[in-house]
Amino acid sequence: MRKVWPEHLPLTARFGVIEYDGRDDETLAESIELAKGFRREGLDMLSVSVGFSTPAAQIPWAPAFLAPIAQKVRRATGLPVASAWGIDTPALAERSVASEQLDLVMVGRAHLANPHWPYHAARELGVERAAWTLPAPYAHWLERYKVG
Ligand SMILES: Cc1cc2nc3c(=O)[nH]c(=O)nc-3n(C[C@H](O)[C@H](O)[C@H](O)COP(=O)(O)O)c2cc1C
Repeated sequence: MRKVWPEHLPLTARFGVIEYDGRDDETLAESIELAKGFRREGLDMLSVSVGFSTPAAQIPWAPAFLAPIAQKVRRATGLPVASAWGIDTPALAERSVASEQLDLVMVGRAHLANPHWPYHAARELGVERAAWTLPAPYAHWLERYKVG
């Protein structure tokens, strides 16, 4: 992948690094070794997720529950990390990054529910020029609707 992927673009991957099936230390350690190998081969960032490969899993669903796991991977590998799952408020997204658990927040279902989620989040967090979060044709209309 690294050989054919343009050098100026980030090469990222997503792993299920944990299963919540009672053997999490082992799975996480294996995932970290794998991630280190990917890093050596030129990976720029890892998206940390759950494996979903065993029916025995007891997943501790809660807001940003994967962020501390992602931080462990970050510390062990030196790779920038992203995660998703239940990061659905601007404050939680901000906290996950500010506390150095995540380098990048991925917002799934909240973004489906509100395609302008990044714009509203930027405004809520006091970003001055929030319009940069919008695709150009949308940003163009901000003035008309007086929401810029
Ligand atoms: C019904 C459903 C199916 C999903 N399937 C996959 C999948 O096949 N592979 C994957 O990497 N993530 C999958 N995801 C995770 C999403 O890609 C995304 O990371 C996640 O929904 C983000 O969390 P959030 O929706 O809580 O923001 C799925 C999520 C949902 C809700």
